[in-house]
Amino acid sequence: MSQNAERTLVLVKPDGLQRGLAGTIMSRLENRGLKLVASKLIHMDESLAEAHYMAHKDKPFFPGLVKFITSSPVLAMAWEGKDSVRVVRNTMGATDPTKADPGTIRGDMAIDIGLNLVHASDSTDTAHQEIQLFFSKTEILEYTRDIDRWIIES
Ligand code: RTP
Ligand code: MG
Repeated sequence: MSQNAERTLVLVKPDGLQRGLAGTIMSRLENRGLKLVASKLIHMDESLAEAHYMAHKDKPFFPGLVKFITSSPVLAMAWEGKDSVRVVRNTMGATDPTKADPGTIRGDMAIDIGLNLVHASDSTDTAHQEIQLFFSKTEILEYTRDIDRWIIES
């Protein structure tokens, strides 16, 4: 991984794939300058969903959340870049799309908290755990991009 870079897990949730927004969401992250280092289309089972949302297991919305995330495939991705955890969260906007700023993914394309299109890790620690949950080491690719000298000052 390049110096100063970090990785974060992004899911295009079932609503994003069903609505045909996976490409648009990927484009937003590519345009921002982030680098895709892993990706997988996966129909999450209950045990993966429960592990992924473990932090929310006591919340009233947990059963519905597990049901929703396992209802149809998701696109799981790891994105790498400078401050990527914070940058991706900002690019996605507030959890509740009615409160998300225009220009963000949720602020432009969603309106309901239960159908907010995307998931992104909320800290570097959770990013590390979540990436491990979805990807083996060999599924995460190290490569250089020629364009990077026009995106990141060395
Ligand atoms: P995410 O984990 O999906 O990136 O979203 P987040 O950090 O912004 O939100 P989080 O608090 O982690 O909640 C996870 C997902 O649960 C659903 N949720 N529903 N009905 C509710 O009050 C409620 N609160 C959260 C959302 O779909 C949220 O993305
Ligand atoms: Mg979260």
